[in-house]
Amino acid sequence: MKKLLFIESSPRGNESSSTNLARKLIGDLLERDSTWQVDHMDLWTEELPPMSGPTVSAKYAVFSGEPLSAEQDKAWSAVVNCIDRFCAADLVLMAVPMWNFGIPYVLKHFVDVVTQPRLTFTWTPQDGYKTLLPPRRAIIISSSAGDYSVGSGNEHNDFQLRYLTAWLKIYMGCQVDSISVSPTIADPDTVKAAALAARRRAEELVRGI
Ligand SMILES: Cc1cc2nc3c(=O)[nH]c(=O)nc-3n(C[C@H](O)[C@H](O)[C@H](O)COP(=O)(O)O)c2cc1C
Repeated sequence: MKKLLFIESSPRGNESSSTNLARKLIGDLLERDSTWQVDHMDLWTEELPPMSGPTVSAKYAVFSGEPLSAEQDKAWSAVVNCIDRFCAADLVLMAVPMWNFGIPYVLKHFVDVVTQPRLTFTWTPQDGYKTLLPPRRAIIISSSAGDYSVGSGNEHNDFQLRYLTAWLKIYMGCQVDSISVSPTIADPDTVKAAALAARRRAEELVRGI
């Protein structure tokens, strides 16, 4: 049985263009193969461990191979639980609105929790960052009011899709595809055409899974 981890990061629920397209993609996927098991992580209701003192000091201890105190160990096991959910997935689907050129803070929190030395990556001065995870597919559905695509003249301000793609590839060992639902604020024909193109791209990706 294959597993899909669906990470929802817009708080807009049924109004969200990224979430709605992700739901459609999941529906299409299940229609083709109903054995997919979906783990839905809504980052606005999920209780992620805080990246506060004990968690961060546990990270430094793990990084340098030192034993963990009881407090660090407790904090670290909550981190490991989140990483286990990522590792269990054959396919990771992320629905992500652009917020202030970047990503919503709940998603950055998730990134900071699951990116951990000796569990997901190693770092050496010679080789820099290397993932420890086996390769898996990831699909990012990004949404933004404006157009930040390559050639738009606005691509240098994209700290959403470029950031997540780099993170998924470098730290998490993913093969990344993306679907952009943008612009979502423009004249009605442009918005409609962009939404249709995104739906077509999602259908194409599902056919290839
Ligand atoms: C806090 C916040 C910040 C935003 N910042 C940007 C931005 O920098 N650039 C942009 O094009 N749109 C920005 N938007 C608009 C959203 O990216 C856009 O409405 C998107 O389609 C929302 O996706 P969703 O419907 O999946 O939530 C912002 C919206 C919010 C709520």
